[in-house]
This record gives sequence, C-alpha cells and structure tokens, in this order.
Amino acid sequence: MTAQIPSQQSATNPDADLLEKIRRQFDSAPYPRIPVEENPKDNTNYLYVHNLVTPYYLRTQKVTNTQGKVILDAGCGTGYKSLALALANPGAKIIGVDISPESIVFAQKRLQYHGINNVEFHVGLLEELPKLGMEFDYINCDDVLYLLPDPVAGLRGMQSVLKPEGIIRVNLHSSLQREWYYRAQNLFQFMGLMDSNPEETEIGIVRDIMKALKNDVILKKQTWNPINEEDNESILANHLLVGDKGSTIPQFFSLLQQADLEFISMVNWLRWDVMDLFKEPDDLPPFLALSLPELSTEERLHLFELLHPIHRLLDIWCGHPQPEKLLPISEWTDANWEKATIHIHPILKNPEFRTELTECVTQMRPLIISKFLSLTHEMVSIDSTMALCLVPLLEQPQPITSLIERWKQVRPINPVTLTPTDQKEAFDLVKLMLLRLEGLGYVMVEQP
Ligand SMILES: C[S@@+](CC[C@H](N)C(=O)[O-])C[C@H]1O[C@@H](n2cnc3c(N)ncnc32)[C@H](O)[C@@H]1O
Repeated sequence: MTAQIPSQQSATNPDADLLEKIRRQFDSAPYPRIPVEENPKDNTNYLYVHNLVTPYYLRTQKVTNTQGKVILDAGCGTGYKSLALALANPGAKIIGVDISPESIVFAQKRLQYHGINNVEFHVGLLEELPKLGMEFDYINCDDVLYLLPDPVAGLRGMQSVLKPEGIIRVNLHSSLQREWYYRAQNLFQFMGLMDSNPEETEIGIVRDIMKALKNDVILKKQTWNPINEEDNESILANHLLVGDKGSTIPQFFSLLQQADLEFISMVNWLRWDVMDLFKEPDDLPPFLALSLPELSTEERLHLFELLHPIHRLLDIWCGHPQPEKLLPISEWTDANWEKATIHIHPILKNPEFRTELTECVTQMRPLIISKFLSLTHEMVSIDSTMALCLVPLLEQPQPITSLIERWKQVRPINPVTLTPTDQKEAFDLVKLMLLRLEGLGYVMVEQP
C-alpha cells in the first residue's frame, strides 16, 4: 500500500533541514497517540466536520453524495482522522500522505484494524502532492500547515491537486491564543532544547523546570497544567513543537490569496460569531452598530480573534475561487422556499437518533436535538409537532410542500381560535423551524 514519493534534496530546497527535523520528530513520536482500537463512530460532532457534505453544502447550497469521492488526508500522522474520514464518507476512497514513515506504518495498522480497505497510504510531502498523479474532491489537512517552512508552498501543493469543485479543510495555529506557548518555545530554543529532535531527555528537562518554578510565575501559570504534567505528548505538541508558527486571520487570508484559494467558512463557524460576544447584540454602542454591518467576513473574524482569542486553531474550509455568489437562505423569498427540497444531515441518520425522534413524536415530548449533534454550546430543543417533520427526512429528502401537508394533518385546527389551520400559517411555521435548524447545521435546504 505504501509508495515512496522522493523527498526534496537539500541542494534544491533551503528548508530541507527543517523538514528533516520535523520528520525525525514525528518518526520518534508519531501523532496522535490514540490507541489503534479507538473508534470515533459514535462521535457525531467529529464525523460531522469530517463529512464532505457539510462544507459542500455551505459553499453551494447543494447536497452531495460521498459515494466514489476521493479524499486526501494530507499530513495524516497515525491516521485517526483518516479513519474518521472513512467512517464519515461512506463509499469514498481515502488517501493518506505524511512525511514520516513511522506515522504511515501506524496509520496503515489503524485502518486495517477497523477493516477499512478502500484506503492507500504514501510517504511524501505536501509540497510534492502532484507527484501522486491524483486529484481530490476533498483534502483534509489538519494540524499540519503551521509546521511547514513555507505554508504557501503547502497550500499550492494542495490547490494543484484539488478538483474544480473540491474543498480543502486546513488550519493554522492562532498566534493570539497560543501566545504563551510561543514564549515557552522561545525559552526552550534559547536553552538549546530544540536544536535537534527533542526526545525523552528534553521533555524531562522541561518538566523539571516547570515543576521547579513558583506557581505564580507567569509562563508557568499560562502554559502548565499539573493534571497533564506527566503527558509527554502534550509537552512535545506545545512547549517543544519544532517548526510551530502562529498566525492571525489577516495573515491566513493573505496566504490563501497567494495560493489562489478562496475562503468558504470557518469549520466551527457558529463559534466565530462576533455578535455572540455582546451582552445585548440589538443594543450595541453606536460606533459598533454603524460599523459592524460594513465589515467584510475577514474583518469580522479578525475582530472576533482580537476580542476573544479562544480558538487554538484558525480552522477553515477553502477552495478554488467561484464566480457565483449565492443568496443566503436567511434572505430567501417565499417563492424560493416553495421550491425547496429539505434534507436532514446524513450524520443524524443513525439508530439512536431515529429511536429518540420516534419516541418524542409519539409521546409528544420535546426533542433535544443537541444531544445528537451540537455545534454551539447551547441546548437546542424542538417541540414534538415540529419534530414530526423530520421523520420522513430519515428515509429520503422531501419537498417543503409535503412537510407542510404532513404538519397540517397533525395540527388541522388552530389551538387558540379553533379555526382550520390555513396554508400560510402552516407554511410560515414550518419555514421558521427549518430556517432555525438549517442555521444550526441539522438540515439542509436545497433549490432545484
Ligand atoms: C500534528 S501532526 C497531525 C496529524 C494528523 N493530521 C492529525 O491531526 O491527527 C502533523 C503531521 O504532519 C506531518 N507533516 C509535517 N510536515 C509535513 C510535510 N511537509 N509534508 C507531509 N507531512 C508533513 C507530520 O509528520 C505529522 O504526522
């Protein structure tokens, strides 16, 4: 299964020494160390972000089928995410590439253990992906780009093997969120612990130094958690991570532009909403009330990271620039809605959700849908009459008109006036519920 992509030679590549250091680091400590038996199959949130349907819909307002798609896990490490990609995208072929041969051996074992055969692994560089001679519908490049000596070369490598409608998930470390780890790395570089490949000895020295410091020393307060102090992987992935670099949103957007890629969305987009940072979003100070609506997507995200740098990763989806800009669903007219077809997200088509939905509808109790998929920290509940619209979606997509008819059959009379439910009332209520569920990522609304 393994094919060798020849690595770049030092003479032609001034960054070869750093690449070699990175390879050695991950050969001696392949990442992540998640045991081979562990399986993310029940982690719907995890599968949701690894499912190509999610970003494809965000970009096109269309629902795609994963059957026959070709997916690259670029910098796959020990293959835990390759496994998640295989589980989240039934019928897709998975290709994993990593600079570290030891990581590739681990990844092969992992996928074999789980009986996944439609997969290939290659030792190679992100910067040299065209040598594979393949093109991809989706590229997952998670926790890799910030290590590259030249991130634009990595982005260009991926861009050049991406199909015209393909999507890349890629992330960089946030320089604002990880500020204190970069100071720790400066310290340990200054002490010479990162001159060659940091291993047990260097990890031990970091641990001894941190333990010896008083608890109120700022670097210790900000980077040291006594609960993790025996965790070698955490020290290597933070205090001693070779090649680690931080970025801001404007820097990331500039890299995308240099690689001729277009931003689609943040991966956890619901947790990047600057309006959520205000006590009363409808009553902002006048300066903000006037200026916020004028900001571009990039500026709003940058404002968010300046105000509230909680995300370790600037984690995005991007693709080739597309000429067509779609009308956001929140701005659709009733005429748009009347032609719509509704899909439930495929990740919710699981036995546990089906059982709970059936019970809620028959016992007339609310459905706490966030128990099954939760993209925000809030509890999301829908009442049982509305939940019944989701039942037929588990079998197949439905035109909105059939959902409205179904809802009217169950609630033929207005409970207050006792007059027959009219078409407009039913349409508005079902539309409102779908708009809310669409915004939270549970359903997808497609135009013909
Ligand atoms: C932090 S690990 C992430 C592994 C995996 N993507 C995950 O998130 O579980 C970074 C991986 O990127 C690989 N890597 C670093 N630079 C690379 C390059 N230039 N080309 C290919 N792989 C690279 C490393 O060997 C390592 O396995």
